[in-house]
Amino acid sequence: HVYTDYFFNESAYDYHDGGYVPLEKHDAPESKLNIPEVLKPDKVDGDDVWYTVEAQTGETQILPGEKTKTWGYNQSLLGKTIIYEDGKNYHVTLKNSLPELTTYHWHGLDVPGPYIDGGCHAPVYPGEAKEIEFPVHQPAATTWLHAHPCPLTGWDVWHGLACAVVVKDQHEATLPLPRNYGVDDIPVILQDRRFDEHNQWNYDDDYDPDGTEGPTALINGTVNPYFDVTTQKLRLRFLDGSNRREWRLHLSDDMVMTQIASDGGLLPEPVYLTKLMMTCAERTEVVLDFGKYKPGDEVTLYSDDTPILKFKIHEFTKDDTEIPDHLADIDYPDPDKDSLVHQVVMSGTDEEVEINGKKFGMMRIDDRQELGKSEYWDITNTNDCCGGMIHPYHSHGGQFMVISRNGEAPYPNERGYKDTIGVNAGETVRVKMKFNHPGIFMYHCHIIEHEDGGMMAQLQVYTKDDPYKKYKLMDMKTL
Ligand code: C2O
Ligand code: CU
Ligand code: CU
Repeated sequence: HVYTDYFFNESAYDYHDGGYVPLEKHDAPESKLNIPEVLKPDKVDGDDVWYTVEAQTGETQILPGEKTKTWGYNQSLLGKTIIYEDGKNYHVTLKNSLPELTTYHWHGLDVPGPYIDGGCHAPVYPGEAKEIEFPVHQPAATTWLHAHPCPLTGWDVWHGLACAVVVKDQHEATLPLPRNYGVDDIPVILQDRRFDEHNQWNYDDDYDPDGTEGPTALINGTVNPYFDVTTQKLRLRFLDGSNRREWRLHLSDDMVMTQIASDGGLLPEPVYLTKLMMTCAERTEVVLDFGKYKPGDEVTLYSDDTPILKFKIHEFTKDDTEIPDHLADIDYPDPDKDSLVHQVVMSGTDEEVEINGKKFGMMRIDDRQELGKSEYWDITNTNDCCGGMIHPYHSHGGQFMVISRNGEAPYPNERGYKDTIGVNAGETVRVKMKFNHPGIFMYHCHIIEHEDGGMMAQLQVYTKDDPYKKYKLMDMKTL
C-alpha cells in the first residue's frame, strides 16, 4: 500500500497567526549538496572513544559574492556528522569558542540529565571546555546535536549550531539497507533562512514569536542543491532542523519514498508514501529506489511547490536487494493499570505560549517520574483560533511510543520510537514514556521561539533511594 496524502490535517498548515513565510526559489545558481564530513575521534581505546566538539564562529560561502557569517560545530556552519555506536563509551570535550555562553544538547540520545543531556542547565562559557562521559545504549537512529541555552536556543540554532548524530547498532547492520555515508546514505538537514543584500542573516529582524522563518530553503547549508546519484538506492536521513517550518515533502513523478525509520530508530515495518510532512526536530529516514531512471534523468524534491533538492541520476549498478517487510522489533513496556497520566497542555500563540498555564521556570520542577517505569503522557494542543497551529512536542530523556491521537490510531509512520511529535490543533496525543536515566529533563514545543518564549517545562526522573535529589539548576537571571 502506498499512502498518497499527508497524514496531518492540512487545514492547520499555514495558519500561523498571519506570520507564515512561504518558501521561494532563490535565484542563486545550483550547487552541489554539502555533505558534512564525519567527525574523527581524538582517540580510541577499546570501547572508549574521545571526541572534541567545538562551537565556533565562521564565514561560509553559501551564495556567490559575500560570505555569510555563521556558527557551527568543528566547522563554520552546522557541523561534522558524529557517529556513535551502541555499546561504546564516549568522552566528549565540549569546547566553546563563541563570544557567548552555549550548551550542547543531544536531541534523541538516551543519556542522563541535566548536565550530559545538555539542556539549559549545562552552560559552557566562552573560552571554556568541559568533558562529559556517557555510554551509548540505544537502537540505530538519526539523532542530532543542537545548542540549547535558554532562552536563546532560537538565536543559536539560526546561526548554525546543529548537526546530525548517527547511532549505529548491530541489528541495523545486518539489514540490506544503504549505509555508505556520503554515497548512498546522506543526512538532509532542512532549514530556511532569509539572506539580506549582503548575504547575511538577521535573526532579530526576522524574529517572530510564533517561530522565525525565511523564504530560502537551506539544505545541509546549501542553497539550490543537487546530489549526484551513483547507486540505485539512496537513503536520506531527513532532519527538520528549522526553527519553525513544517516541511511538506514530495518528489517529482510522485516517486514513492520508503520510510524505514522515525526519530528513535527503525520502524517495525517500512511505510510507503508519496507525501511526507515533518515538523520541527523530527527525523525521518527514507530509501529512494531509482531503478526505473537512467543516466541523465533528474528527480526533484519539493516542499509544497518549491524545489529544494535535485537528484541527478548517473550510471549505477543494478541493485536487487529488497527492503525487508519486517525491520525491527519494537518492545516497549506498558504502564501499570493504576499509573497516573501526566498532562501537558500547550496553549497560546505568540508571547502567550504556555504549558499547563505556566511559562517555563528554570528553577521549577513541574513533574516527576520514577526511573525505569513506563507511564502515559497526554499531550494536548488547545489552539483553536483561526485554524490553529501544530505544536511539535518534544521530550528530552529518551524515546516514547505514540498510543493514540484523539483516541484514534497513530499515523502509520508513528509506530516506531519517537521523541518529537506534531500535535494538531484541538488534539490530544497519548504516548507512553519510560526514562532510563535519572536527572532533570525538559519537555517543550520544538518551534524554537515557542520554547524560548516559555512553552517548556521540566521533570525530575527520580530513583527510589534518592527521590528528591538536588541538582544545581541555572537561573535565567544568572545567565
Ligand atoms: Cu531539540 Cu530541548 O530540544
Ligand atoms: Cu531534546
Ligand atoms: Cu508551539
